[in-house]
Amino acid sequence: MTPSDRPRRSALYLPASNAKAIAKARTLPADIVILDLEDAVAPEMKTEARGAAIAAVREGCFGDREVAIRANGLDTPWGADDLAAIAGSRVDAVLVPKVSAAADVAQYHAALAAAPAALQLWTMIETCGSIAQLDAIAAMSATTRLSLWIMGTNDLAKEMGARLTPERTPFLPLLSLAVCAARAHGLAILDGVCNEFRDIASFRAEAEQGLLYGFDGKSLIHPDQIAPCNDVFSPSEEELHRAAAVISAFALPENAGKGAIRVEGKMAELLHLDQARRLIALAERITV
Ligand code: COA
Ligand code: MG
Repeated sequence: MTPSDRPRRSALYLPASNAKAIAKARTLPADIVILDLEDAVAPEMKTEARGAAIAAVREGCFGDREVAIRANGLDTPWGADDLAAIAGSRVDAVLVPKVSAAADVAQYHAALAAAPAALQLWTMIETCGSIAQLDAIAAMSATTRLSLWIMGTNDLAKEMGARLTPERTPFLPLLSLAVCAARAHGLAILDGVCNEFRDIASFRAEAEQGLLYGFDGKSLIHPDQIAPCNDVFSPSEEELHRAAAVISAFALPENAGKGAIRVEGKMAELLHLDQARRLIALAERITV
């Protein structure tokens, strides 16, 4: 399975300074585990957290999960050392914060020059400056390791001066723009976190909103969010039924050479056949 084929329904952050959380993450059904060195780690714990993240990757035991380390920015006292340590590790991806321009991606890419070819570069989309630059940032995927974006709605809310309510009204245009820019350049894209980790009904509604907007999955902060998130971002029985019906209908001799047909009372075009095949392929790759 290539990285871009992997299910990325759920991406659990945890502070890399929290050994108990790392041990627990190895047993949880998240598709992605993100060992955080940035927002979740206090300045006095940064060096220790970096060592713990690198050691955790070396020890492994994350099974099929993709593992990422979120570094501190290159404009902080810890960024350069984080990037050097990560480049020398066998982690799947490095996630970098507060990218606002194509030049930022180039700078992180250059800092990873010595890393194994398989190391992916993922970036947060969480600054106001990034919003007007989404296409230029995403286009860097053609010439760098960039392969995935994660929305940072908490930082966006802070910079915008906006309120992060359950409906996320101020953010909806930004979510759409980011999904379109990501897709235009073949990037995967994950939605931001829901801070209300005790309120699973609110969480589920927010995850469903992310699915509706086209995200591959959602970033998470607590183990209780994983099961509902995987459920929301897995193809439903109804979707799989429709996909199978579209594929069977296009395979009928009477539909050979047709671009648009009727399937169970609704129009299906060749683009829907494409979507149906992708949905079934995704479902086949989901094991938990
Ligand atoms: N990853 C792995 N394990 C986690 C976890 C996480 N993100 N969050 C909580 N746990 C574990 C706890 O260690 C605890 O384990 P235990 O049952 O073995 O003792 C269990 O899950 C229950 O935790 P709970 O008591 O419900 O949560 P808490 O009050 O201890 O912690 C947070 C709440 C928000 C501080 C914590 O979930 C957290 O640190 N989340 C990640 C924050 C983060 O990384 N932010 C950066 C990106 S926005
Ligand atoms: Mg942030």
